[in-house]
Amino acid sequence: MKVLVSGGAGYIGSHTVLALIASGHDVVVVDDFANSKPTVIARLETLAGRPIPVHAFDLTDVDKTERLFDAERFDAVVHFAGFKAVGESVENPLDYYTNNLGSTFSLLRAMARHDVRRLVFSSSATVYGDAPVPYREDHEPLTAANPYGWTKAMQEQVFRDVAPAHGLRIALLRYFNPVGAHPSGMIGEDPQGRPNNLMPFIAQVAVGRRPELEVFGDDYPTADGTCERDYIHVEDLARGHVAALEHLDAMVEPVRAFNLGGGVGTSVLELFHAFERAVGHELPYRVVGRRPGDLPAYWADTARAREELGWVAEKTIDDMCADTWRWQQQNPNGFPDA
Ligand code: NAD
Ligand code: WQD
Repeated sequence: MKVLVSGGAGYIGSHTVLALIASGHDVVVVDDFANSKPTVIARLETLAGRPIPVHAFDLTDVDKTERLFDAERFDAVVHFAGFKAVGESVENPLDYYTNNLGSTFSLLRAMARHDVRRLVFSSSATVYGDAPVPYREDHEPLTAANPYGWTKAMQEQVFRDVAPAHGLRIALLRYFNPVGAHPSGMIGEDPQGRPNNLMPFIAQVAVGRRPELEVFGDDYPTADGTCERDYIHVEDLARGHVAALEHLDAMVEPVRAFNLGGGVGTSVLELFHAFERAVGHELPYRVVGRRPGDLPAYWADTARAREELGWVAEKTIDDMCADTWRWQQQNPNGFPDA
């Protein structure tokens, strides 16, 4: 298939571009580099061994999106583009609603007008709110604890309403906690400023950019008192997109949600100690107060992805840490500016 990958320069998009190419698909990227650097593209071209066409514009621009679909014929879209920082979404909710919903509206309009019927979408486990664990795809109602999460729940609803009217087939991939990097160490997660997420923060402590990890609370009702999450290697996640794309025409309903997670919870301290093993020595940390809004523990029910997509996460927590550490060591300051 010829696949348009929106947000293909970002963390998960870049790994998925390589997985799609490795599976024999042709890829075109659209990204405005709002949260990524153009230098990632040269790395992708080296790893893929071929040029990757890139269109640098903001997808909320309806006219530019329309012109791209006028110029090229796509068989499918994999849609990653969007803002994703929970805290920032509380500070600037209007930016989040405008960008995340607006880019989806532009894409859906262009797809409907050009008869492009296949879409794979980046959703999030955040839409489960505090549902019973493990999270199952048939849980309702979807909810959210912040504007970022609401943009995901709202986009899922938009897809459910729009798909039947235009004959679309849409896979809603609900990611758990994506971590890790390409085993080459050439691409990985490159947060701008202070990392919001645990794994890149630990990696920056290990490489000396941050003095210590602050563990947000050790008085939760879990085995060691720290929060448990379902970490998934970005390479497994990328493979999950290929599996979903290739399954779209056979889906049991036009819009279907799939959890992409490993199905087990790992605590903050377990992940931290696994990273210490990858580095080969102890790292500094300190327990501080809870972060508002954090749930104690959640993980995915993975049955649907296994049975319908034939997909399971294969990489271990030690793989996730080793690959993150290789990327961080080779690129202590992330991607170069030029
Ligand atoms: P990322 O920020 O690294 O990648 C997103 C990419 O989209 C960036 O390259 C950015 O420049 C681009 N982009 C943003 N708005 C755009 C617009 N209007 N037009 C064109 N390009 C635009 O984020 P990521 O971690 O790779 O996440 C990808 C998707 O997966 C996002 O939708 C995110 O919400 C979702 N997701 C991420 C996580 C996670 O923990 N990383 C978890 C669940 C869901
Ligand atoms: C993991 C655990 C923290 C940083 C977020 C979004 C979610 C999804 C994935 C997009 C928690 C603890 C963290 C630190 C810490 N994104 N922690 N010290 O919150 O599970 O999920 O990313 O859809 O929507 O909310 O991930 O990596 O921020 O935190 O102790 O410096 O690590 O308290 O228990 P989270 P995270």
